[in-house]
Amino acid sequence: MKNRILFLFTLLLPLGAMAQDAAPAKTFWDDPINHPMTPFYALMVLVGVVTVLVFVVAIMLLQVLNTFVEKAAQEKAAALGIAYVKEPSWWTKLDRKLTNAVPMEKEATVMLDHNYDGIRELDNHLPPWWKWLFYGTIVWGVIYFVVYHVTDNAPLQEQEYENEVAMADAQLKKLRAAQPVASIDEEALAYTNDAALISKGQAIYKSNCASCHKDNGEGGIGPNLTDEYWLHGGSIKNIYATVKNGVPDKGMISWSAILKPEEMRDVSFFIMSIRGTNPANPKAPQGTVWKDTEVKTESVKVDSVQAQAGM
Ligand code: HEC
Repeated sequence: MKNRILFLFTLLLPLGAMAQDAAPAKTFWDDPINHPMTPFYALMVLVGVVTVLVFVVAIMLLQVLNTFVEKAAQEKAAALGIAYVKEPSWWTKLDRKLTNAVPMEKEATVMLDHNYDGIRELDNHLPPWWKWLFYGTIVWGVIYFVVYHVTDNAPLQEQEYENEVAMADAQLKKLRAAQPVASIDEEALAYTNDAALISKGQAIYKSNCASCHKDNGEGGIGPNLTDEYWLHGGSIKNIYATVKNGVPDKGMISWSAILKPEEMRDVSFFIMSIRGTNPANPKAPQGTVWKDTEVKTESVKVDSVQAQAGM
């Protein structure tokens, strides 16, 4: 029986390993029902349940057997005409062995001879379980001392901490290398109505800005972004700077901590793209009329921006 189960396991193990190789990205808890290891785990649970059941049945059988043995001993004692003394259970024997307690009837043998107003003291043995635990700590202490302080085979707390920090640093480095933060050349920033970038910017606007500037840029808590009036300038560089630095005193936060440089650029492109769209329910103009001149000079630089957009 044991051998057969072992054989089954050796058959299943490589299967499990193969399945794991095929889908390394998904962990078991992402989708337990369709996970390739599920049949294997289910089988292991089944084997566990069966093992427990076998144990329970075995214990019950033993108990039944015990009653028969006891009965036979009783009959034998009766036949011999002597009193039947029940054999103590293994648990009682173990308990006696572990505690080494002096039975109540024999307490007089360990009674000390002093007497405090009728209160007397027994000189009981130390319980063996406690003594062995104590000896165990001594042995453990010697092993610990040798491993950690003599041979330096295992790292102490401080070393452990440093190892973990080094590991985390390495992971961070790997992560940073995998997703370099694209930087924007703010000096050369110019508007181009690149549909791909603008639609990216629109998505960013919808989730971050529309709550204050409204869906179509008509303005709400924040100013109207579609009219020709601007508080902080209406050129692409002005808008990018406002988004990046914010106007914290007036309720417009700095987005540089939340958005990546190219995301701030894309959302700025989107704002440029909605100028003059005259959405419904516009907020009253704020600031001064922005002259188009700078936008025109920037449109000359379209080439350099496209080069940037391609990175
Ligand atoms: C919590 C509200 C709020 C959110 C969210 C918000 N803004 Fe603003 N925004 C404001 C306010 C208020 C002002 C006006 C600041 C002032 O009075 O100087 C402003 C001003 C601006 C201006 C300058 C307008 C001008 O007239 O010069 C731009 C550009 C702008 N926001 C873009 C954005 C972008 C892009 C986002 C999303 C990434 C965004 N805002 C998110 C509240 C907000």
